[in-house]
Amino acid sequence: MPETMKSWHQEAFGLDNLLLSERPIPSVGEGEILVRVRAASLNYRDRLVVDGQLLPVLPEMPFTPVSDFAGEVVEIGETVKRVRVGDRVAGNFWTEWLDGPAPLEMINHAASLGGPYQGALAEYVKIPASVAVRIPAGLSFEEASTLPVAALTAWHALAETNPARPGDIVLVQGTGGVSLFGLQFAKELGARVIATSRSSEKLDRIAALGAWKTINSIEAAPWDERAQELTNGAGVNHILEVIGGSNLTSSAIAVAPEGTISLIGFLESGNFSLSSVPLMLKRARIQGVSVGHRASFERMVRFVEERSIHPVIDEIFSFDEVPKAFRRLEQGAFGKIVVSLEGQSRDRRSS
Ligand SMILES: NC(=O)c1ccc[n+]([C@@H]2O[C@H](COP(=O)([O-])OP(=O)(O)OC[C@H]3O[C@@H](n4cnc5c(N)ncnc54)[C@H](OP(=O)(O)O)[C@@H]3O)[C@@H](O)[C@H]2O)c1
Repeated sequence: MPETMKSWHQEAFGLDNLLLSERPIPSVGEGEILVRVRAASLNYRDRLVVDGQLLPVLPEMPFTPVSDFAGEVVEIGETVKRVRVGDRVAGNFWTEWLDGPAPLEMINHAASLGGPYQGALAEYVKIPASVAVRIPAGLSFEEASTLPVAALTAWHALAETNPARPGDIVLVQGTGGVSLFGLQFAKELGARVIATSRSSEKLDRIAALGAWKTINSIEAAPWDERAQELTNGAGVNHILEVIGGSNLTSSAIAVAPEGTISLIGFLESGNFSLSSVPLMLKRARIQGVSVGHRASFERMVRFVEERSIHPVIDEIFSFDEVPKAFRRLEQGAFGKIVVSLEGQSRDRRSS
């Protein structure tokens, strides 16, 4: 086992301060494991964390960002029983949320991988054994690296809390990671999916992935009118709200009686103002979603295996291309951006 590893880390916030260099490989203590990272994937939050935003508890410097990874276990600490050397694993984002109700630490964002805890843009990452989750057998490390945040968020919203039922209509917004997993899971749960995007070209691609109907959210603004037409006035049973801000007004209009809006993202804004009476009359629910717990992750892994679901990857970058990968994320990817620790950059957009 070498003593040092290549690692991206920052001494100060900002993407320009993210540097690649040799760092010591973390030593493993009781209850911990060391994972050789084979692939990592980027989330919108990773860029906010790199820039020193989002987290009320700032990470300690030097800090290695990025929450999502997949790799193989190379060392286990004393007393570790649930994981063995050689296992192919990912890590549950919330380190203290393993099942059931969420602990208070979560509300202060104080216990999550990739900020404030050290993240995975390194050849090796140390995590508590308790958060390790076996990755689906049929997925490559690159595919599996996309599951911990984006996929689990969509899964937790659609399958664990107010689950989508066969025949329901689910609406996903934009064509990023959470929304494309939302499409894939909703379809497999028997729902029909309406997808919105600002791009007609991306709408063609999401239709090819099985969306029932699509709405160009710029040409058909406000998109809620078109959603009402497509559902013959019945509305949408479950909306994955990833845009936030004024977009919530459209979601509140488009949601069906007894329907659910899963509050997930804030791409436009983290603040909104809504007229409450129409939502009361519809007896609609707005539920906050905050990724998910380990038990939910494990159920999702079984579902992904049973249904042979393959994550949609926009582009794979090599380990020395991390700043380029972050810039691709800013441009609005179709699906997930992956950093491979093994190959050269490959474009999956045409596959
Ligand atoms: N609550 C949670 O647990 C949780 C978990 C994961 C993510 N999130 C949040 O959910 C949001 C989406 O995350 P993601 O990882 O799916 O993002 P992403 O992969 O970066 O995807 C963003 C997509 O949304 C669309 N978009 C971007 N900016 C927009 C804007 N201002 N207005 C309208 N559409 C916009 C674009 O699609 P088109 O070009 O097709 O329009 C873009 O491809 C983020 O705010 C993220 O922080 C929350």
